[in-house]
Amino acid sequence: MLKIEHLSLAVPSADGDKPAVSDVSLSLAPGHVLGLVGESGCGKTLTAQAVLRLGESQGIVRTSGKVLLDDADVFAMAEPELRKVRGGRISMIFQEPMTALNPVFSIGAQLTEVIRLHLDLDKNAAAARAVKLLADVGLRDGAELLRQYPDSLSGGMRQRVLIAMAMAADPDYIIADEPTTALDVSVQKRIIDLLRRLQEKRGMGMLLVTHDFGLVAELCDEVAVMYAGHVVERGPVADIFDYPAHPYTRALMHCRPDASGKDKKLPAIPGQVPQPGKWPAGCRFAARCPLADAACKAAVAEDAWSKGRHLARCVHVEKVSEALEAFV
Ligand SMILES: Nc1ncnc2c1ncn2[C@@H]1O[C@H](COP(=O)(O)OP(=O)(O)OP(=O)(O)O)[C@@H](O)[C@H]1O
Ligand SMILES: [Mg+2]
Repeated sequence: MLKIEHLSLAVPSADGDKPAVSDVSLSLAPGHVLGLVGESGCGKTLTAQAVLRLGESQGIVRTSGKVLLDDADVFAMAEPELRKVRGGRISMIFQEPMTALNPVFSIGAQLTEVIRLHLDLDKNAAAARAVKLLADVGLRDGAELLRQYPDSLSGGMRQRVLIAMAMAADPDYIIADEPTTALDVSVQKRIIDLLRRLQEKRGMGMLLVTHDFGLVAELCDEVAVMYAGHVVERGPVADIFDYPAHPYTRALMHCRPDASGKDKKLPAIPGQVPQPGKWPAGCRFAARCPLADAACKAAVAEDAWSKGRHLARCVHVEKVSEALEAFV
């Protein structure tokens, strides 16, 4: 199991560290797909990167909580152990396939480096594995591709190379942070299909960060909705689609693009996500919520069970469904 327990993170700023993720708890079982959704700036990437402690180099500080990989605390690991976990047991696929590859090294140099970092293979065996990995991600003529440089590849091909790299050491978990947003719409679906196929075939657990509830419905077993550093709702996808219990979740679902892809202009939720350091007391969504009252503004809601099925951080969890029929 991969678990995040009560994790809080702070980001650096000119006037000191500011809380940016607070009290986030999530768990991901092998073979399952967990979606992490929320508007821009809610803390999804910070949370996802914290699993591998990738924020540390940018001055992001863990202020409380843990990340547990089969009961071992990732934050307690020494460098050599952490290096084995990164790309070994847990791999990450980033949003931006253009910058994630180094332009001055060939695809082969970069891919075999990752392979040899994690597996005890000689040069020839690593090259053979590289060609096999490229075939697994739908790239033929792997031997030729190994000699090429990133700038001769399209965005979709680069993302496939990065996925091949992420698969190099047969990880147990994969973290995909908006893996298709930088790609053409026509390529997005194929990359998602590829990820899903690999995830199923290899029985990996996947944490998928996305803006898109359509993708959540299609791919995920569970979903967590983030707002201003908090997870405001989480549980099985089917439950949350049947009975979204947080007004923010309802609003987000309402904003999703229609399935035909024709309606490009999304209805936005009025107002903005409060930034780190500017969180109000009480519920952070209150300023944008049609149900907000004095109780919401007074204190942060604890997680409550919505009709006994999944967790939502809203004091009105019991009445959201009826009250919001008019809202969405
Ligand atoms: N290295 C950093 N230094 C300072 N602030 C940061 C840093 N990284 C993130 N933040 C701030 O923390 C907040 C959460 O950022 P994060 O990148 O996790 O958002 P996100 O939910 O992934 O958004 P998006 O959907 O746009 O990717 C934002 O307000 C962001 O500006
Ligand atoms: Mg992000």
